[in-house]
Amino acid sequence: MCTPGSFIFSEVIILEFAVIILAAGEGTRMKSQRPKVLHPVAGLPMVSHILRAAVALDPAQFIVVVGHEAEGVRSALGDEPTYVEQVEQLGTAHATWQARNHIADSIEAVLVLYGDTPLITTDTLAAMRRRHMATRPAITVLTAHAEDPTGYGRIIRDADNRVLGVVEEAVATDTQKAIQEINPGFYIFDAEWFWPALERVEKSPAGEYYLTDLIELAVADGRVVETLLADDPCETLGVNTRAQLAEAEAIIRERIRQRWLEAGVTMIDPSSTWIDADVSIGVDTILYPDTYLQGQTTVGEQCSLGPGALIRDSVVGDRCEIVFSVVEEAVLEDEVDIGPYSHLRRGAHLGRGVHIGNFGEIKNSTLGPGVKMGHFSYLGDATVGEGVNIGAGTITCNYDGENKHRTIIEDRAFIGSDTMLVAPVTVGAASRTGAGSVVTRNIPPQSLAYGVPARVQAAKDSDP
Ligand code: UD1
Ligand code: CA
Repeated sequence: MCTPGSFIFSEVIILEFAVIILAAGEGTRMKSQRPKVLHPVAGLPMVSHILRAAVALDPAQFIVVVGHEAEGVRSALGDEPTYVEQVEQLGTAHATWQARNHIADSIEAVLVLYGDTPLITTDTLAAMRRRHMATRPAITVLTAHAEDPTGYGRIIRDADNRVLGVVEEAVATDTQKAIQEINPGFYIFDAEWFWPALERVEKSPAGEYYLTDLIELAVADGRVVETLLADDPCETLGVNTRAQLAEAEAIIRERIRQRWLEAGVTMIDPSSTWIDADVSIGVDTILYPDTYLQGQTTVGEQCSLGPGALIRDSVVGDRCEIVFSVVEEAVLEDEVDIGPYSHLRRGAHLGRGVHIGNFGEIKNSTLGPGVKMGHFSYLGDATVGEGVNIGAGTITCNYDGENKHRTIIEDRAFIGSDTMLVAPVTVGAASRTGAGSVVTRNIPPQSLAYGVPARVQAAKDSDP
């Protein structure tokens, strides 16, 4: 059973250490145009998960080795790490070697991680570091028990259970292939021994320099190789294929759900509730089935979301309700209710207590507190004041074929059903439009406009 990961960690740091993440490979087994380490898991590139787990250890130096689609990897990971380039992908030892000139002399230990193992937790990396500090071996390597070890390097031990080396699947004998203790690819190296040893790695028959060869080299040097068996084998999954990507996704999703259940969020059906890694949710919020909280989304307390809600990169206040609707890059203040079947798009900002009913679409528009838009309407590039009523079928005609124009509807205006607001246009405060009116000119405050094109009833106050 895979358990949720904990990211809480504290200990006295004794060794000055550096982290190197290898992320230069193409990932041909994914059959993708996108570099493997950028495939998202729970909405974040898989390499970001590893980076976060390692950053929490507070290393003195942080290096990411990039190569294939280097720019994409850099922009996904931001400025925090130092980047070094591996121009030709000649294997994991060769990739690690690229970082050597960037490592300070003061660094005593080097933690090397692969960019395709997104499930590792800070707790496990911290446990490795404790093990390493206890005896200061040449290498501390994490191992794991795999029911199906296919695809992983196998850990070879002698009769006294001492590690002798790692054998890659490609060159393993049948007896070695049956070994279920695998090398998931997490190592801490003693820096002094490590760099010269890395130079001694020889090319494999496949033309690559394998980092795993270092284990045999350490043994040959008479140095100790420590191992730590991972408590939870789920943490060590390596993603080489789409099937493994789906497996990683399922495990991370389950961890995230467990975290929010523990934090006081109700899920009617956790298995149909999808929460990305960076989402946050307030207490006593209820998530109904088929709800997707994606990207950088923040949800307040006591909300009721779903069934059938997709909310991406949005801010949802307290006590909001969203049913069968899509909300993207929008802000909802407290007590907003939406749906069924509405669509909020980029730049929709709904004030406190706004009600959006069936089949509404809102884009790049600010709605003041208490606005009601119950049925079949489109608001684009609009500024709508407090307490405005948008009648059924109201449309802002914001696009003239070349440019977008703004519509302003001032406080307490009442827009009659089927009104077309041909932008740029302003409807003054407390004004009304008649059903079916096509408003092509500004309407002054407290007036009635009606007809096609709409005329203002009080002629003397009409638009210049
Ligand atoms: C590697 C290990 C294997 C282990 C497995 C765990 C080696 C030789 N083998 O195999 O023992 O069981 O991981 O998941 O290390 N990379 C580069 N440059 C390169 C080659 C790889 O940056 O030239 C990066 C890749 O982007 C990837 C990581 O190193 O993130 C691992 O490479 P991959 O080819 O996936 O290694 P595996 O065959 O899985
Ligand atoms: Ca791999």
